[in-house]
Amino acid sequence: MQRSENIQVALRFRPLNVRETLRKDPEIWEISENSTYLKPSWSEKLQDSRKISNSKAYTYNYCFSSQETNEDVYTSTSRKVVEASLQGYNGTIIAYGQTGSGKTYTMMGSDGAELDSALNTSHSINDISIEKHEIPKAKGIVILALEDLLKLSKDNTNKSCYLSCSYLEIYNEQIFDLLADKEKITDTLILQEEKGQGFYIRGLSEHVLNSVSDVEKLIKKGEFNRHYAATAMNHHSSRSHTIFRVYVTSVSINKGSYDIGENITTESLLNFVDLAGAERVNSLQEAINPLETSVRFMASRSPRASPRLRSSSTRRSIDTFVNEGKHINVSLFYLCQVISKLSEKHQMPETHIPYRNSSLTKILSTSLGGNALTCIICTATSTLSQVELTLSTLRFGGIAGSIQNVVKANIHSDKTNELLLMYQKDIEELRQRLNAYENESKSVVVETEGIDATINTEGNDIRKILEERIKMITGILFSKKLSENEPQAKELWSEGAGDLIVDTKLVGSKKLNESLNTSADFAMTRMKEMHKEKDKQQQYIEELEQKIQYLTDSKNNLTNDLKKSLQICQTETAKRVSYKQQLTATEIQVEEKGKIINSVVENKDKEIQALKDRVNLVEKFSGLDKLNNDELERMERMYFHGLDMVKNTRFQMKYFKEIESLKSIIDKGSKNQENIMREL
Ligand SMILES: Nc1ncnc2c1ncn2[C@@H]1O[C@H](COP(=O)(O)OP(=O)(O)O)[C@@H](O)[C@H]1O
Ligand SMILES: [Mg+2]
Repeated sequence: MQRSENIQVALRFRPLNVRETLRKDPEIWEISENSTYLKPSWSEKLQDSRKISNSKAYTYNYCFSSQETNEDVYTSTSRKVVEASLQGYNGTIIAYGQTGSGKTYTMMGSDGAELDSALNTSHSINDISIEKHEIPKAKGIVILALEDLLKLSKDNTNKSCYLSCSYLEIYNEQIFDLLADKEKITDTLILQEEKGQGFYIRGLSEHVLNSVSDVEKLIKKGEFNRHYAATAMNHHSSRSHTIFRVYVTSVSINKGSYDIGENITTESLLNFVDLAGAERVNSLQEAINPLETSVRFMASRSPRASPRLRSSSTRRSIDTFVNEGKHINVSLFYLCQVISKLSEKHQMPETHIPYRNSSLTKILSTSLGGNALTCIICTATSTLSQVELTLSTLRFGGIAGSIQNVVKANIHSDKTNELLLMYQKDIEELRQRLNAYENESKSVVVETEGIDATINTEGNDIRKILEERIKMITGILFSKKLSENEPQAKELWSEGAGDLIVDTKLVGSKKLNESLNTSADFAMTRMKEMHKEKDKQQQYIEELEQKIQYLTDSKNNLTNDLKKSLQICQTETAKRVSYKQQLTATEIQVEEKGKIINSVVENKDKEIQALKDRVNLVEKFSGLDKLNNDELERMERMYFHGLDMVKNTRFQMKYFKEIESLKSIIDKGSKNQENIMREL
């Protein structure tokens, strides 16, 4: 499940923009398969003008010309990273390049890029109008990846997949939540380290993704917040890094498809990183001395700005710029440093990787040299005017390509998950049974309705027969009366009355009554039977309803149990986090205490040394060891007194010498004076 993977590097040239076309800025780079090199004519010219020193070909995993689309780039570079996330592999896609080279276009699509350029030129949210631009709409890698993830998880019936996302911005080393509610957009988040698990961002909001429209809405919200915050805090969007994170959890209930068990949960994190413009990390000098560089850069970008910085607003904006520049230079510099150190690691495994120097490298620590499939897309411009910045990007990509990450899938098969899966399975089974019962009870209702209808029709038929018979009896009675009074009339009626009358005449009225009674009894029995059947069905329905009620209750109980286990899980996780925090606090305290103890021990050592010195001194005097404490102390006092005396004597001697020399000078002077006087 563990494998070594080199960071994949892709180079992408963007099409020329209107300004470059109008200026007739020539395209000087050519692509052949997965390499790029200067067109031969330009290679010579540039070497002559010493703009570049060599004309080698730069080779990457992929090279994309300006004709290739975001879909092409996504399919070749990122799809496999996205697919692997469903098996528990972390993944990171990074866009690196100078401002305006197409990083945001590649990551967030044409809308994101247009919003960026609109803000970078107008500085006002009101001026942003995506519709005004004529550039055809293109989806970015983030949307393409999520479309794929949603489709893959829908198609896979053996797995339940849960997707959620966060969107953050790093500006001046501070982290902002781009999906936070409006009033919290300007709050900064804290980056915290969890031992053995890298860094996590405290308070970063997470949002569930169920459809592509969810993704689009959240990206729009993030972009809007980014520009809103940029306006509110006077940020410049090309100087910030953004990271769109997707958390992928897949729960597999597919028996036997993995070697470690049947119920498997995989968790992975996908980072889509849109870095700030790389133009300010051209050289080590720039990164080390950002202030000078930023001012130089500012002066070169806006020739009208006075180098003397007369107005206070200009001073303010330059101060801000310097501050921003510093953070960008420093964070991108540290990114480059991390990448260059990582590229040396296979030769020097002990090399220290300075992840902790900036927020960006802390967040990306698991993606660079860690447990993630990583792909860096270097975006560049192929024009002559940008040759130096393009070369810097090409070199960066070259170094990054040699880094190896050791990736392994984040697979769990712990009891909690199994329990959750069991509950899920139970609920699913109960749901199916409930559906089956519901369907069955429906069919029973239909059946009883059928019986009711039968009872009705049969009842109607019996009623008809009875009515017929009543008619007949009336007829017989009538014909009897007639035959008693008018024999012809009897003949006439009997013709119309049909066989029954003849029959009646033959059998007599007693038999007829019997026959009628039997029919009525039969009808009644049938009716009773029907009603009994109906009652039985009714009872059956009631039983079913009870069963449904029981199942619904069981389902509710299970759901409650599930909720409770989830709550327990959450409380346990919260407890774990708080224990960890306590542990960290205790570790800090222990460290502090250790320092104090060390310094106390040091002082004690010094004291012991002083005592030893004294003992040594005393031991030098033979016979002193026989003295008691008081005598020793007296001796010590005498010793120090003696020392003082020696010191004084030394001083006195010094003064005596000086007095002697002064005396001799005075003697000499007076002798000279005597001689002069004598000569006179
Ligand atoms: N491959 C591309 N095809 C078409 N237009 C592009 C492409 N790449 C960049 N652009 C355009 O170039 C401009 C700058 O791109 P953008 O992504 O904002 O640069 P970056 O994020 O590197 O500063 C935008 O107007 C964008 O629409
Ligand atoms: Mg951008």
